[in-house]
Amino acid sequence: MEFAIENQPLLAYQGDGLAVGIFEGEGLTKLAQLDEKLDGQLSEIVSEEQFKGKVGTKVSLRTAPGFPVRKVILVGLGTQEKYNLDGARRAAAVAVRAAQQLKCKTLGFSLPGPDPATLQAAVEGSALAVHEFKKFKSQPTEPAETPTAPPTMTLLGQGAENTIARGQAVAAGTLLARELVSAPANYVTPSYLAEQAQELTTWGLDCQILEQADCAALGMGAYLGVAQGSDLPPKFIHLTYTGAGEITRRLAIVGKGITFDSGGLSIKSAKGMELMKFDMGGAAATLGAARAIAELKPAGVLVHFIVAATENMPSGKAVHPGDILTASNGKTIEVDNTDAEGRLTLADSLVYAEKLEVDAIVDLATLTGACMVALGNDVAGLFSEDPALSKEIEQAAELAGEKVWPMPMDVPYFDSMKSLVADMKNIGGQYGGAITAALFLKQFIIKTPWLHLDIAGPVWSERQHGYINKGATGFGVRTLVNWVLGR
Ligand code: BES
Ligand code: ZN
Ligand code: ZN
Repeated sequence: MEFAIENQPLLAYQGDGLAVGIFEGEGLTKLAQLDEKLDGQLSEIVSEEQFKGKVGTKVSLRTAPGFPVRKVILVGLGTQEKYNLDGARRAAAVAVRAAQQLKCKTLGFSLPGPDPATLQAAVEGSALAVHEFKKFKSQPTEPAETPTAPPTMTLLGQGAENTIARGQAVAAGTLLARELVSAPANYVTPSYLAEQAQELTTWGLDCQILEQADCAALGMGAYLGVAQGSDLPPKFIHLTYTGAGEITRRLAIVGKGITFDSGGLSIKSAKGMELMKFDMGGAAATLGAARAIAELKPAGVLVHFIVAATENMPSGKAVHPGDILTASNGKTIEVDNTDAEGRLTLADSLVYAEKLEVDAIVDLATLTGACMVALGNDVAGLFSEDPALSKEIEQAAELAGEKVWPMPMDVPYFDSMKSLVADMKNIGGQYGGAITAALFLKQFIIKTPWLHLDIAGPVWSERQHGYINKGATGFGVRTLVNWVLGR
């Protein structure tokens, strides 16, 4: 989608459509002049359709021939008190979808505030809203109806020099994550993820791929234990971004990269197994963030992006329930359930990340069904014993419009993971599964501030809401970008 920013009044805009954001209960005072030019049609339709300015609502009308715009669209922003950057993202999504329906090729969009941050959010929201995953749809020979391309959007307000580019970089990172999660496991293999990482070197990132033998030499028995059941070679991905100037912050981002989770010998039931292509959602967010950060080029910061990619498959070579694996920190793990595989791959990823001597480590993983039971589909579980890092991620997520919620780690549930024969088991008791998973990961961190996001719920959406379409969401990218940028 294309964007422009012009600091011009509403009435000066000429194009197919004009969308204006309206607060709940604000009325039409600021649009009195426009309403007058439209012979009161605007106030008429607002009362006819009982448009109040609630979030997600809109009304539109067609103007008379010769008017500088063909369609006028009012977009509800909700109450002024609750309006924030994500309100701008969602309003832009409503505006651009309406314009598409109304076959507008160009759209002017006016929001309150319109400072650079708001305009950037509007760019993000519209670019994300119009995204469709069409990679595997063949071209119909006779299109049923002419497809409507998204309109060129002109944001009315005061931008900064790089407002559009920044919004587009953030959107492109999120869309990369969505595309990777949407595509199935016969395309998105560990090698495919490694190739995608390699391609990010065009943005100036450094890329290192560790092969099976390299990982074996590093003693990554937990990760390789998961990988041994698959016919596909594992790929351990390590991208590095180095900002300009003196480096004052060193960070690591780790993503769970199971390109398909069948459960292994503790095989999952058939119902819903197809969704387990999304078990590399943490890896997708990691690569998406890498792409956006490489384009935004923040100075003074160094970021490692780490993904231990593999499938989790049953086979004659697969790890058996009861097998004991040794992770790269020397700790031994009795694999009671081969479906608790993410934590095994993350164990070696976290040990690797900590050896890089960073100031903080954040991991993202579609780790447990239990986290979805606790927090539902829209909210990620946040686990950390570092209050400062928790605050950073909570703030970054808030600005990103991504919901996270703190979960406790100061509970004695790790007791349930004691093993008779090894240092620990890979599963805990019946309850608190998201917490036992986090406490398991904690065993592989010595001293570095660390935070874990369980994104099992928000990686995928069963409904369209705001700029989130049905399917892969790209969750995590914007939070990570904000965090690295120090927002
Ligand atoms: N990838 C799954 C977690 C998952 C399940 C995410 C459903 C989204 C939807 C993970 O590897 C897994 O299978 N976890 C098990 C852990 C259990 C065996 C202790 C789970 O959550 O059931
Ligand atoms: Zn699993
Ligand atoms: Zn999994």
